[in-house]
Amino acid sequence: MNSKFWLTTMFLMSRIGVLNANSRCHVTESSINGMYLKGHVFKKYCDLLPRECYFRCEEEVTCQSYNIIIGQNICELNNRTKEARPEDFMPDERRFYMKRSSNRVPLGSIKELPAKTCGEIEASEGNQIADGKYWIYSEESSEVIEAYCKESWQKINGEEPVCFGAKDNQYGSFNMTKSGRVKTMKLIHRCAAAIIFHPTGAAPTQDMEKI
Ligand SMILES: *[C@@H]1O[C@H](CO)[C@@H](O)[C@H](O)[C@H]1NC(C)=O
Ligand SMILES: *[C@@H]1O[C@H](CO)[C@@H](O)[C@H](O)[C@H]1NC(C)=O
Repeated sequence: MNSKFWLTTMFLMSRIGVLNANSRCHVTESSINGMYLKGHVFKKYCDLLPRECYFRCEEEVTCQSYNIIIGQNICELNNRTKEARPEDFMPDERRFYMKRSSNRVPLGSIKELPAKTCGEIEASEGNQIADGKYWIYSEESSEVIEAYCKESWQKINGEEPVCFGAKDNQYGSFNMTKSGRVKTMKLIHRCAAAIIFHPTGAAPTQDMEKI
């Protein structure tokens, strides 16, 4: 490792320390050497010093973290953090990774930065995320919708509960706002009555599944 790189890194770290001292209540982030986030680069710059890359990230609302290719001074801005996508956090001795330390927008909190799932938001922001509305893709990288997340679950029926009639095979209905593969689905019922659930199309008197 050449001494030039170490000097620029030291400058970056102390610079971030100063910014944090001024704007308080930001968690200090430090760079992680020999690692990078793969597959979430939305902008790439050549010939940028690490501290300039830091400021480019600050200028982009969707920037969540960045990778630097050491020596070549290549700056890669990521729209995810390693917490959101731990499986994409990879070793590479030529690079280092840095999470955005100030003014980072929580994943899914703005339309420009939709999450893949509620689970991804929880992974990115920690399990203290508030239950409520977030922007997510309804389908794989296509339409963006506002979904209701509760921990890592997406509430399919939205804000209002679905009313299932208690007798005479009355049933409630809702639209699925997520396509692709649904891993798990759970029905939460709020009243004492038993629930009989059947997918659309099944005859109400047959093939019922008791949950
Ligand atoms: C995030 O970056 C990927 C490329 O790495 C891109 O395909 C995707 O559209 C970006 N998402 C947003 C919300 O900018
Ligand atoms: C589901 O979507 C269809 C078509 O958009 C609409 O007519 C229907 O009212 C919706 N049903 C519910 C329960 O939201």
